[in-house]
Amino acid sequence: SARIDAFDSHEQIFLGEDPSRGLKAIVAIHNTRLGPALGGTRIWPHETFDAALTDVLRLSRGMTLKAAISGLPFGGGKALIVADARTAKTPELLDAYAEMLLALKDRFWTAEDVGMTLADADYLRARTPNVSGTSSGGGGNPSPITAEGVFLGLKAAVEHRHGSEDLTGLKVAVQGLGAVGWALCERLHAAGAALIVADIDADRAGEATSEFGARKCAADAIHAADADIFAPCALGGMLNGNSIPELKAGIIAGSANNQLAREEDAVLLKESGILYAPDYVINSGGLINVAAELEPGGYEAEAAFARLRHIPETLADIFHRAEATGMTTNEVAEALALERIAAAS
Ligand code: NAI
Repeated sequence: SARIDAFDSHEQIFLGEDPSRGLKAIVAIHNTRLGPALGGTRIWPHETFDAALTDVLRLSRGMTLKAAISGLPFGGGKALIVADARTAKTPELLDAYAEMLLALKDRFWTAEDVGMTLADADYLRARTPNVSGTSSGGGGNPSPITAEGVFLGLKAAVEHRHGSEDLTGLKVAVQGLGAVGWALCERLHAAGAALIVADIDADRAGEATSEFGARKCAADAIHAADADIFAPCALGGMLNGNSIPELKAGIIAGSANNQLAREEDAVLLKESGILYAPDYVINSGGLINVAAELEPGGYEAEAAFARLRHIPETLADIFHRAEATGMTTNEVAEALALERIAAAS
């Protein structure tokens, strides 16, 4: 519709380049009707500018939907630094990025994402005020809270499908054992689920085997593992025309942003009888936590947890509405988020 088309255009895009300090960054501000743009900074070595731009534009749009569906007074934005976080994340690069952030301090707030750690957030916060997810602000690294939200959301999906949220003996395939994937495995293991895991970092997968008794799987086959639930916790786009026909799990519930390669893939999932927990709903715990740090009275863990507990309720509502209307869960989630944005306009 025209409204959705208008919603798809970004308000502002900023490019920051400082070759001498290795900075090439894009800050995308998608929509600020509900409040100032808030979104993490991803550090990732995209091979082309187009790939970087596509990534950041899709992520910032997702942040608008995420803030809206979480009832937060923020708009959507996202930043991307084109670099390999393992080799090129120097103090000079972070200094140059801090200067870019400082220039945007009335328009954009940022926090951790893939490639950016709590130590990086603290380093930036010492140089510019518009950084959250910091030690000094009290919220710290949002990843454990994100994992807790994914865990609660995954149980809501299991309850919807199986009539009970008991995870005992259920097989969960976890793709990506980073900050969120690992913390999710801890919770799943404690709840009695059997884990199948994959990471492109073989050491990480090995550690999960000894820590959780998990079964290791090749990174390019984890989506097709014989599991009840598939939890994508790596990067986006793993749900696509090739992978969906190979899925064996009946539920998809994971932290990765932009899990669907294309909107139509939600239809493919629905037609395959797979219950999909929309990514920006189930992974909203991190945003909830960094937003809590920006409250005028400062960070209150209890307030963040109270909002986190809405994630399973929101998902249960989305699952029911999708069933009642024949819409995909993604369409229902987007309609709910757009209603909130329209109501605030
Ligand atoms: P991370 O960088 O700590 O972990 C990602 C892990 O995935 C790494 O261990 C990496 O080796 C692995 N990986 C990458 N490609 C892979 C592949 N093809 N197959 C298997 N493993 C692969 O990142 P983090 O923070 O755990 O985030 C994971 C996902 O969750 C990302 O999509 C992120 O945008 C999303 N997310 C994270 C939030 C947070 O609070 N950290 C909040 C909301 C979403």
